[in-house]
Amino acid sequence: MDQPSKLSPLTITLHWLVGLGMIALTAIGLYMSRAEVWTLYPIHKSIGLLLFVLILARVLWRIKNGWPAQLAGGSKLEHLLAKLVHWLLITATLAMPISGLMHSGAGGHGVAVFGLQIVPSQHSADKPDQALPYNAGVAELGEAVHEWLGYLLILALILHVAGALKHHWVYKDGVLRRMLGQRV
Ligand code: HEM
Ligand code: HEM
Repeated sequence: MDQPSKLSPLTITLHWLVGLGMIALTAIGLYMSRAEVWTLYPIHKSIGLLLFVLILARVLWRIKNGWPAQLAGGSKLEHLLAKLVHWLLITATLAMPISGLMHSGAGGHGVAVFGLQIVPSQHSADKPDQALPYNAGVAELGEAVHEWLGYLLILALILHVAGALKHHWVYKDGVLRRMLGQRV
């Protein structure tokens, strides 16, 4: 379990695996959809689903262990903002793969993990190159959430990294060093 002066190896490992995975998928997602690189779609979906397993483990661990104790540096307002951003980030880790699944699965585009089929794709007979949705409403909701929460995630991440660096360089209070495994 986490202690105020030292975080558990599980907290640290899951934070960095999920965190760096989310950053990579955000970059790939934005690039592939803007540049229409269709070959990246199955890779984005496969990594997203594998990451979802780690995300679920991370959320269960957060529920069992609680949030890491707050360290001294920063004003009350900054602590509140940090809490809000942590909640936003952890919610986004759940909502991004779920909305991606809704978009691809219900939209008839199909979902697979590196070739292992989870939801088959569906096409109409007269337009075989176009996906035929299983449920257009669910697919559209998923698409909208995936896109707009993606933008919110980027904003939250900028605040999160700025906060971590401010703690490190201005307050010099060990918040970043603790997430890197050191006792503070
Ligand atoms: C390079 C990028 C990142 C850096 C430098 C970083 C740094 C940190 C640090 C120093 C803490 C500890 C805060 C504290 O003790 O109060 C923390 C906590 C946290 N980070 Fe990050 N982080 C990064 C990326 C991410 C990403 C991408 C996510 C999720 C999408 C994320 C989610 C969280 C959450 C939810 C916490 C709260 C504590 C926990 O649940 O383990 N972080 N981060
Ligand atoms: C797990 C974390 C994930 C993150 C952080 C993420 C992030 C993103 C981002 C930022 C975009 C660009 C959105 C846009 O501007 O339209 C995107 C696109 C997309 N993502 Fe994800 N994604 C994740 C997981 C998934 C999963 C699990 C699936 C499907 C099973 C998926 C399917 C898609 C699809 C189909 C697009 C393209 C949307 C379009 O062309 O309009 N994503 N993703």
